[in-house]
Amino acid sequence: MTGPEKAQAIASRKASGPPVSMLTAYDYPTARLFDEAGIDVLLVGDSLGMVVLGYPDTTHVTLDHMLHHVAAVARAKPRALVIGDLPIATYPDPATALANACRLVDAGAEAVKLEGGVRQAAKVRAIVEAGIPVCGHLGMLPQRVLEEGGYKKKGKTPEQSAALLEGAQSLIDAGVFAIVIESVVPDTAAWLTARIPVPTIGIGCGEHTCDGEVAVATDLIGSFPWFVPPFAKPEADVASQISAAAAAYHSRVQRAPVADLG
Ligand code: KIV
Repeated sequence: MTGPEKAQAIASRKASGPPVSMLTAYDYPTARLFDEAGIDVLLVGDSLGMVVLGYPDTTHVTLDHMLHHVAAVARAKPRALVIGDLPIATYPDPATALANACRLVDAGAEAVKLEGGVRQAAKVRAIVEAGIPVCGHLGMLPQRVLEEGGYKKKGKTPEQSAALLEGAQSLIDAGVFAIVIESVVPDTAAWLTARIPVPTIGIGCGEHTCDGEVAVATDLIGSFPWFVPPFAKPEADVASQISAAAAAYHSRVQRAPVADLG
């Protein structure tokens, strides 16, 4: 299947279900494992800036970082749709957005994601018209964390809810095939989902409020213990296993007798 065909198949799940499963993946082995587990969408998210590269937030991520990790994920040749995030400052206008989306696609992405609503519509339209599927991202926008002074819940007031719906409508008119909704209060997320004709993919929006869910891989597998968002539901404790394996290796190496080569 081509990228646009895969994106269309995800879009059609709005009507037919089942809910869409999306996980972030930043490297070849994780992409293979998640794909083999049946995950629908692999998102090479700019969250890699925090959970892989050790930056405090996603505002440090560059297009070169993304190209490197998109290429690693694409080498797994996943059956799942591979989405690459356009990082901060790479989509200031439609022409630049399209040029950088093309670079992500050349690296192996089958679709791109960018953050924001009304003010991104012309950029989304330019990318979609070039044949590249686009996923929107509304609610809490991590690329704006510094301007907003933290990670804040959205959709708490009727005004905020109306602004989210207006943003969603402009993205839909521009041609997105799905919209990630981040940290929107559950009632508003469900209200938006009922009004948006493409799948909503929720994170931090409560359970069963969206047409699918996305999780940051390290939150799911428990491999980044220094920060775990309150809404995360770890299914494994990989950090403990890595620590135990390293400690066992260290002891084994220190216990081994030095060979007498003389
Ligand atoms: O970069 C990312 O991982 C994301 C998810 C939080 C949706 O955008």
